[in-house]
Formats: sequence, C-alpha cells, structure tokens
Amino acid sequence: MRNISEDTITQAVLAAMSDCRNERLRTVMTSLVQHLHSFAREVRLTESEWQYAINFLTEVGHITDDKRQEFILLSDTLGLSMLTTTQNNRKPPECTEATVLGPFFVEGAPEYQNGEDISNGAAGLPCFVSGHVRGLRGEPLPGATIEVWQSDEDGYYDVQYAAPRQAEAEHRARGRLRTLPDGRFHFRSILAEAYPIPHDGPVGRMLDALGRHPWRPAHLHFWINAHGYEPLITHVFRNGDQYLDSDAVFGVRSTLVADWVEHPPGVAPDGTAMDTTFYTLDYDFVLNPDGHAR
Ligand code: BEZ
Ligand code: FE
Repeated sequence: MRNISEDTITQAVLAAMSDCRNERLRTVMTSLVQHLHSFAREVRLTESEWQYAINFLTEVGHITDDKRQEFILLSDTLGLSMLTTTQNNRKPPECTEATVLGPFFVEGAPEYQNGEDISNGAAGLPCFVSGHVRGLRGEPLPGATIEVWQSDEDGYYDVQYAAPRQAEAEHRARGRLRTLPDGRFHFRSILAEAYPIPHDGPVGRMLDALGRHPWRPAHLHFWINAHGYEPLITHVFRNGDQYLDSDAVFGVRSTLVADWVEHPPGVAPDGTAMDTTFYTLDYDFVLNPDGHAR
C-alpha cells in the first residue's frame, strides 16, 4: 500500500480493516471513516484547524473526571445524545417520550418512602410532586422503581459542589422510590429552576464561539423501571420556562412539559401546614411493554 492519494485514501483505510471479525465494529468504523473523510473534503479542513480540534478534544479529556463529564456535554450540545436517545426509544405515541440522561445521574441514591422529602436539605422553594406510572393499556404499575434527581435553586446538582461543601451536599435532591399498589407515587422536593450546563470548560467556549447559550429549561429527571416494561429515562419540563425552545441539549418534547402550580401559604397536598409559597406538580408516566411492536 503505497502512493496513496487524496482520492484513494478512504478506500485504503476501509481495506485495512476489512479483516475485522467483529461485524458491527466494522460497520460502525467503515461509516465513521467515510463520514470523517467526507467532512474533511467538504470543508477542505486545514492543518491548523485539525490541530485546533485535536487540542480541543485533548482539553475535553483533561477536564473530564468522575464528577465532570465533558464528553457527555459535548455529545449533548451537538445533539448526538438526543439523536441516539430518540432513535433507540421509538414507541407508541401514548407512551411517555424519552429524553437525555445527562451527566448528573448517580447510582446508589438514597431510598425514600412515598411522601418523604427527597430534597434532603437542598435549597429551593418547596414542591410536592405526584403522579402515576401506568402501562400502555392504562394498567397501574405497582412497585415500579423511580429514580428522581434535580438541581437546587442555584442551578447546581449535589455532585457539582466541591470541597468543603461537597460532603454536606451529597445526595441532595435525588432519591429512589417505588410506586404504590395503584401505581401512584408522591414525594416532596424543591421547585425546579432553569440552569446553565457547566460552561467553564472547552464545551462552554465552543458554545460561546458559536453564539449559543448554555441554559436548560427547568426540569425534573426521572428514570423509571418496571418488570416487563422498557425502562424510561426522561424529564418533566416546567411550563412557561423561557428556555423551552432553546434548550442547550435539544431535549424538550411538548408532551413532557407540565404545569408547576403555585400555591399561597396553606395546607399542602400531604396535609403539611406550609407558611411559605409552595408548588405542586402532577404528572403521569406511561411505559411501553417489553417487546411491544413499534
Ligand atoms: C441535565 O439535565 O442534567 C444535563 C443534561 C445534559 C447536559 C448537562 C446537564
Ligand atoms: Fe438536569
């Protein structure tokens, strides 16, 4: 293999991996190489531009650790996460739509009983959340596990706090609970507020250079699992938020937008006497049975 030219290089790379025994890997890498080469040809990529891109990706790697996942931010802000989510979660229109997982889910969140306060000290206005988890034919799904997580009123998830506040913030505004025998769930938390995704790194500079903002509309994250049904990773977005039509990660679906209802001081849905303004959110989820035709 010598004297490879601008015109023959793509074919040469594809031929070099033709012995790959992993068929899926060969398919994916063949397509990736073809698209990368087409891209370089189409924009007539210069050497300094490619070096700039390599430096950028190097920075993305350097800032990434077990708390900060800049590669997820890059994938999210380029729409690749949402494209992957959407094409892998096709389901009947009656089912709740999926959206991006994001970088702030944590395994091993505390377990709560229905009615308990998952804010665990996170700052924010009180909010009482309730709803049902059902299957496609309206059947209640008892014992479904619900993972819920959200940012605080300052726009930070617990995992974003550094020492010395890291330890006190741990496991704030996230939890795991199970639906009741009628498929209902309810818990107390704090009002979801809009927040910017971490933008003090290379992805933030990319957004800035592109004239884009880093904001996400206010939302609550849910990951719901029920035996015999497809897992559902989604958010519920707060109606009226100014960023619903310009989410930095392209995750909003109209069907996922719901009203957070503001209440004056008084009695909360769980009977608690509230001496401050509080909010309620009621939202039902519909899961797709495993193996259900799309
Ligand atoms: C989130 O909603 O937690 C999130 C999603 C994508 C990027 C950053 C944050
Ligand atoms: Fe979020």
